[in-house]
Amino acid sequence: MAKDPVRVLVTGAAGQIGYALVPMIARGIMLGPDQPVILHMLDIAPAAEALNGVKMELVDAAFPLLKGVVATTDAVEACTGVNVAVMVGGFPRKEGMERKDVMSKNVSIYKSQASALEKYAAPNCKVLVVANPANTNALILKEFAPSIPEKNITCLTRLDHNRALGQISEKLNVQVSDVKNVIIWGNHSSTQYPDVTHATVGDKPVPELIKDDEWLKSGFISTVQQRGAAIIKARKLSSALSAASSACDHIRDWVCGTPEGTWVSMGVYSDGSYNVPAGLIYSFPVTCRNGEWSIVQGLSIDEFSRKKLDLTAEELTEEKALAYSCLS
Ligand code: NAD
Ligand code: LMR
Repeated sequence: MAKDPVRVLVTGAAGQIGYALVPMIARGIMLGPDQPVILHMLDIAPAAEALNGVKMELVDAAFPLLKGVVATTDAVEACTGVNVAVMVGGFPRKEGMERKDVMSKNVSIYKSQASALEKYAAPNCKVLVVANPANTNALILKEFAPSIPEKNITCLTRLDHNRALGQISEKLNVQVSDVKNVIIWGNHSSTQYPDVTHATVGDKPVPELIKDDEWLKSGFISTVQQRGAAIIKARKLSSALSAASSACDHIRDWVCGTPEGTWVSMGVYSDGSYNVPAGLIYSFPVTCRNGEWSIVQGLSIDEFSRKKLDLTAEELTEEKALAYSCLS
């Protein structure tokens, strides 16, 4: 029997990630090849004409799984009945801007959209925040949508996770699909800690295969940390196709489950695991089953890693305070 359609909201749908993401969703890359979808696309009034153009292209592409399109500048209409919300809308970082510069522009957007989601989304709606500062926007959304379960509000660090897989695959000249269990800890920012301590290729630990501690502790980490800035420098625009693809990976694994023996990185509400302060949206290694994520427990954390986990937690604590000061 055909499945009922799932309603997927994409905010900022007329922007560049939106333009890459909506066809992926309509093709079944996010929710599976047998899952019909109805796309809800939200943007702001100045982008209304462009948004309508995206809607026209979706119609023209004749996606068999796409059962309807709502394209609107009205947050209430956009949020009504949605089962999945991918929050891309916001003010992007431009070349030379620090992420903190975009904070005040974005937290007020996330405060007001929290209310629309809380009131009008379907019960148990899963929320993924992509727009930067992603962790802190997600935290603000959580704080201002208190009736949405905190487990349902996440942010995207899967792009960083995938970047880490890509770097290891290139270094070892192995297929990216053979690299497993890297971890992104913390913030989607340059303080994030891409950790390969527990990563493997086949049955072999990545640190043993690479045998270049200096690269692992320095070049690898800074390449992943700075990849977003490197893309902006090269494209004069922030990453879009890789962000869209990673957003699909994030939701697919959350809804459909992670493969046995594999974890992924997601920005989730911290419960104090690994001595990360509770009450931050922090990227952890997670496994997903039955539509719920769980933080992987019991991984050893060496002294080098401990410092990096703490550093990025400190930045998130500062961002949280800054976000609240922007709202007051
Ligand atoms: P973009 O400027 O091309 O698109 C953003 C869209 O959001 C625009 O169409 C804009 O009109 C719209 N918008 C602005 N305010 C809005 C509001 N209140 N409601 C709805 N829509 C609104 O930017 P982009 O390149 O698509 O990037 C989007 C965001 O994603 C940026 O914040 C960027 O920094 C972030 N990003 C995050 C990651 C990640 O891994 N977490 C990766 C890449 C980019
Ligand atoms: C990325 O990681 O590519 C983006 O978050 C960069 C940015 O700041 O928009």
